[in-house]
Amino acid sequence: MTSRVRLLAVVFVAALAALLLWAPWNNRNPLDQGKQIYLTVSEPRCAICHTLRDAGAIGEVGPDLDALKPDQARVKTAVTNGIGVMPAFEALTPAQIDAVSLYVSTVAGKKK
Ligand code: HEC
Repeated sequence: MTSRVRLLAVVFVAALAALLLWAPWNNRNPLDQGKQIYLTVSEPRCAICHTLRDAGAIGEVGPDLDALKPDQARVKTAVTNGIGVMPAFEALTPAQIDAVSLYVSTVAGKKK
């Protein structure tokens, strides 16, 4: 093996390893992740205050999200800053807020 071939082999194997390590993250469906956040990860949980059929949630404190059908930006603003008695979710990362916003805006108002 010439050293150049060996170098290529090393680079190839390293790239493959990086891809394998990264793939499970990349494959995590953001909608599933958003649903998890809605139901369990958020504190307090969205589900105790908001009705959302897709999540099987019945909450009477905040507006029924199936009726409101907010777009992603509206959910994101509410979760980031809080609104009325709804708190800002400072413990969620920006990626988690994106995921839950995508989830709610995608499923709200859909039949299940
Ligand atoms: C403690 C109860 C409570 C929790 C927990 C809660 N909300 Fe709310 N939410 C409310 C209330 C009350 C309002 C109405 C606020 C108002 O309009 O004054 C609201 C409003 C909203 C709105 C509408 C915002 C707008 O622009 O009108 C969205 C979207 C929303 N919540 C999503 C979420 C999501 C997603 C979560 C979880 C990360 C969550 N909420 C958690 C009580 C809650």
